[in-house]
Amino acid sequence: MSASRRAVVGGLSALAVSACGRESRGQTGAYPAPEPLEAVCPAPAGCAVTAERLADPGDAALIARQFSQLTPEWQLKMEYVLAEPGRLRFDAPDAIARFAQTRGLRFFGHTLVWYAQAPEAFMRLDGQRAAFEAAYRDYIAAVVGRYRGNAVGWDVVNEAVAEDGEGLREGLWSRNLGALDHMRIAFEAARAADPDAVLLINDYNLEGNPRKRASFLRLVEDLVRAGAPVGGIGTQTHIAADLDPAAVGAAIADLARLGLPIHVSELDISLNRGRRMFASEAELEARQLRLAQAVGEAFAELPRRQQFALTVWGLRDGQSWLRGPKENPEPPWDAPLMFDDDGRAKPLLAALEAGLRGR
Ligand code: XIL
Repeated sequence: MSASRRAVVGGLSALAVSACGRESRGQTGAYPAPEPLEAVCPAPAGCAVTAERLADPGDAALIARQFSQLTPEWQLKMEYVLAEPGRLRFDAPDAIARFAQTRGLRFFGHTLVWYAQAPEAFMRLDGQRAAFEAAYRDYIAAVVGRYRGNAVGWDVVNEAVAEDGEGLREGLWSRNLGALDHMRIAFEAARAADPDAVLLINDYNLEGNPRKRASFLRLVEDLVRAGAPVGGIGTQTHIAADLDPAAVGAAIADLARLGLPIHVSELDISLNRGRRMFASEAELEARQLRLAQAVGEAFAELPRRQQFALTVWGLRDGQSWLRGPKENPEPPWDAPLMFDDDGRAKPLLAALEAGLRGR
């Protein structure tokens, strides 16, 4: 999208907030200027980060000011930790954990077992049950053990429910250790490595697909019944403007029925997905603001003991995973996060905070 167009879009959203109600209160409403998110959020406010971003003084200061919890966006996944044969690599997650510790922020581990990760170290043990299970338990013990007393919690299992919401995903982990058992073993191994960390199961599209949400809730119940120490639920909340805001509250209320703490674990609100539904950019942005407010309201309505944390999946729009890599910007543009490319707080943050204040 051209610079001039982005300027127009930017201008619109500034108008929407600065002009207090002139832009049809019904649509965007007037939001007070945003405060640091961690000051408004009734539970820890988290941000997905990389070691490189924390090494940038500007981003480091903004992150320390706005947030009270950090999640490694990808550098604590097997693709990073197991990248080099024969050793576990922790330089980047150590840097993130240290940053958090020295600034009194919480450190949250993401993620131990994910269908999307099938590293060579485990592929070569495929079909060898005993060796596979031993390596699996050793990996979890090594990673969770390293951050014992530092990591407040972990996404032990990520995205276990099938895309269409029917049943569980199959893959390297389930094939070798069983559909449910690979998860039970992971929770037990994590618990053994850190008796205090809160252990969560995390998934996405739980707002837009009630059938998937029902399968997810059944899975949680099955795991608890199987003795897995499940201490909370993560709902990624990668939502888009095509979602009915009412679906957010309905989903979080439904997930809360089990009485477990809830982590809104990877919040971003895409403008691209759903763009065609709206006649104008202003309407599209108004929907995005409404969705942010709905997420805040739904989280604020949870009992305090079920408010684990609210995490946004990145700091500045330009860093979002929803933006293709610079060398191949496909999709070309999106603005799903709370801070613009220059690190300025957006109306989206004000809308989220308005929801958290229960407005
Ligand atoms: C994404 C990261 O944002 C990207 O940087 C990485 O290349 C791929 O993974 N669900 C998850 C996250 O649980 O771990 C994913 O993060 C986004 C979807």
